[in-house]
Amino acid sequence: MQVLAISFGREGGNCDILAKKALLGAKAAGCDIRFINTNNLIIDRCTNCTACDKVFDKGADAKLCQRPDDFRFVRDAIMDADGCIFVAPVYSVGVTGQYKNLLDRMGASHDRAAMMAADKQRKAAGQPGVDPRLFKDRPVAYIPVGGARTPGWTSMGLPMMHLLGVSNQMIPVDYMEGYGMGDRVSPFFDEPYMERVFQLGKNVGEQAGLEREKMEWRGDWEGVCPSCHGTTLTYRGDGTKVECTVCGSIGDLSIEDGKIKVTYPADEIARGRYQPGGLVEHYEEIQSMVQRFIAVIKERGAEIPEFEKELDFIKSDKPEKRTILKKIN
Ligand SMILES: Cc1cc2nc3c(=O)[nH]c(=O)nc-3n(C[C@H](O)[C@H](O)[C@H](O)COP(=O)(O)O)c2cc1C
Repeated sequence: MQVLAISFGREGGNCDILAKKALLGAKAAGCDIRFINTNNLIIDRCTNCTACDKVFDKGADAKLCQRPDDFRFVRDAIMDADGCIFVAPVYSVGVTGQYKNLLDRMGASHDRAAMMAADKQRKAAGQPGVDPRLFKDRPVAYIPVGGARTPGWTSMGLPMMHLLGVSNQMIPVDYMEGYGMGDRVSPFFDEPYMERVFQLGKNVGEQAGLEREKMEWRGDWEGVCPSCHGTTLTYRGDGTKVECTVCGSIGDLSIEDGKIKVTYPADEIARGRYQPGGLVEHYEEIQSMVQRFIAVIKERGAEIPEFEKELDFIKSDKPEKRTILKKIN
């Protein structure tokens, strides 16, 4: 089994140290290890060009982004791995932009529900199925890393990091808060913390290759959601109903022994984004919207150029010279 750790921080920075220490834990659990630092890689953003859809429709075994940068190298490393550890800096209270670029480009295109439907269709038509690596169940652990003293400065790190594991249905088995790096000066100086990071790597390594039902959550506390074990809730003003920000499951908030508790009905857990049923629900929603889109365009598509006339005189401003992306060093 191979455990991959990806650090999105500076080479030799805090994320690298934590990722490598976690890999030592995975190695102690008997796994092969692989490490990637992405800081000097170029992972540009998804531009919704749909080239990945087009190659897939022509028979490729997966939706592969066609942008000529380092995305595919990182994506293939994730697809080859049996367990993943993602360690990313928190910038401006959320995860760093490069991580978001990666998850946008690996999200919809690697959606397990869509890939399962395509696999079924292709096999029924006597064709080869899709890349089997798309269906590997991988344990995953996340560490959002911030310099500030209080966790309030890293609060959108973890929820955003989770989204990289959602689309191909990784199984969260652990996470650690990585705030306070400024006070630690170097993570090496906080030995109990480094031991816990080692344990996080072990928790991933020991579960790599297991069936998803056999994997277990080994984080320090259960959080407020039984799927992602996250701590973030969205309130939409509807009584005591709250939504897990990561999973989208809706539960009922109450106070027990002075602590917030959220109770989720079983069907709400099952329709969470981290659960196979949740992705199928979203896949079916998209399919029904495609049908509606086609029907409305057929009926009213010819009206659109008329509507556009009102907006046409507003042109996008452009720089005189195009900026070309280059590696910095
Ligand atoms: C542009 C920028 C924004 C940052 N914003 C935050 C922040 O909102 N919260 C925080 O705790 N740390 C913030 N930091 C600090 C980094 O998260 C911290 O230095 C971290 O250790 C970087 O990871 P690295 O050492 O692996 O490069 C910011 C750093 C930069 C460069």
